[in-house]
Amino acid sequence: MPNSACHDPLHAIETVSIDELRNLQLQRMKKTLRHAYENSLMYRDKFDASGVHPDELGSLEDLVKFPFTTKQDLRDNYPFRSFAVPMEAVVRIHASSGTTGKPTVVGYTKNDIDVWADVAARSIRAAGGQALDKIHVSYGYGLFTGGLGAHYGGERLGCAVIPVGGGQTEKQVQLIQDFDPDIIMVTPSYMLNIADEMDRQGVDPKNLSLRLGIFGAEPWTDAMRKEIESRLHLDAVDIYGLSEVMGPGVAQECLLTKDGPTIWEDHFYPEVINPETGEIVADGEEGELVFTSLTKEAMPIIRYRTRDLTRLLPGSARTMRRMARITGRSDDMMIIRGVNVFPTQIEEHLLAIDALSPHYQIELSKDRHMDVMTINVEFSENADANSDITAAELVHRIKTFIGVTAKVVVHEPGRIPRSEGKAQRIVDHR
Ligand code: DLL
Repeated sequence: MPNSACHDPLHAIETVSIDELRNLQLQRMKKTLRHAYENSLMYRDKFDASGVHPDELGSLEDLVKFPFTTKQDLRDNYPFRSFAVPMEAVVRIHASSGTTGKPTVVGYTKNDIDVWADVAARSIRAAGGQALDKIHVSYGYGLFTGGLGAHYGGERLGCAVIPVGGGQTEKQVQLIQDFDPDIIMVTPSYMLNIADEMDRQGVDPKNLSLRLGIFGAEPWTDAMRKEIESRLHLDAVDIYGLSEVMGPGVAQECLLTKDGPTIWEDHFYPEVINPETGEIVADGEEGELVFTSLTKEAMPIIRYRTRDLTRLLPGSARTMRRMARITGRSDDMMIIRGVNVFPTQIEEHLLAIDALSPHYQIELSKDRHMDVMTINVEFSENADANSDITAAELVHRIKTFIGVTAKVVVHEPGRIPRSEGKAQRIVDHR
């Protein structure tokens, strides 16, 4: 696959020395803490309650003195009490629905939108995009940050952006055939749904113009990357982000290395903590990812607990550190008879079985007092296999590699609900 990542120059910041980067982070962190304390009612309360003051930050390590921010804090300060600028200065509001309770609300100044467009453009560039490209955006537009984040980033890079949004899968395929986009930005699960629709319409992905897929907004595995790359004949790279911190483009995997997203550390300062104790773990160890924004105006965020589990890794294609592919959200961790299991672990094993399609859903139920995990999978089109034997193979792999006993039900192709955005991997009946 030709590497197109060399057409537009990198931003100078992407290759600065570590010392320069740390120095810049410290200056920006000081400013952010002061701004949050002086202007956000939420942070004034939080810092006062913990008895800390922004002046206590002398080094980046001092950040541990400051309290974490959680989704609950944002809910408690719903809708705008976390904002640190008057509403006159806010030019955009997004919200993330979450599964329960009130949404969390985020605001942006003109400058915030500008920075977001910059990091999203930087992300597309690192993914292998260039100004000449056409980008088909199938992330949802609306309160979700995916569509507009990708959109502004693409425009900022100089690409021609096609704002399709989520849904209308038949039409997605038609537009991809007619408009010849070079890049698609979509969740990996919706990409698979679109690929099935291509099959249904008799469209051979080999004959399409798509060269690159920038996939994120939900956990996915390297096994899924291989599946998507071979099925769609494109390079698949990982984009990470979350609304509370900005949106897509907080971190981006580089095409050159495909070794986990590089965190744009000049704007987002990462920490990884032990989710139980809140203590920082060493780089390379798994824990919960925590972010502090370094340049945000409308809604600075200090030590935000993402609930995403990952590891911090040294820089490779850039000076900045990388994060390992997200294992899962702590909310999605299933504890089956004492063993911690994430949907991504199941995904890896089901993709190793040729007769199965990559679509799956996990049901949790109770049998007397025991938790039961039922994995619903389906045959791939034209699979010539016996469902008992295929189910037994997956049960065996999961028992051997993960250490839990699962029930597996193999359905006919097309039976597992299809995603048009973030896939719902777990259905909990308990
Ligand atoms: O999902 C922002 C986004 C849009 C990222 C498009 C990438 C592409 P939220 O709806 O606030 O924002 O959800 C954020 O999604 O905390 C992770 O749990 C998950 N997530 C996002 N990107 C990835 C990824 C957007 N690459 C939550 N891998 C985050 C795994 C991801 N999980």
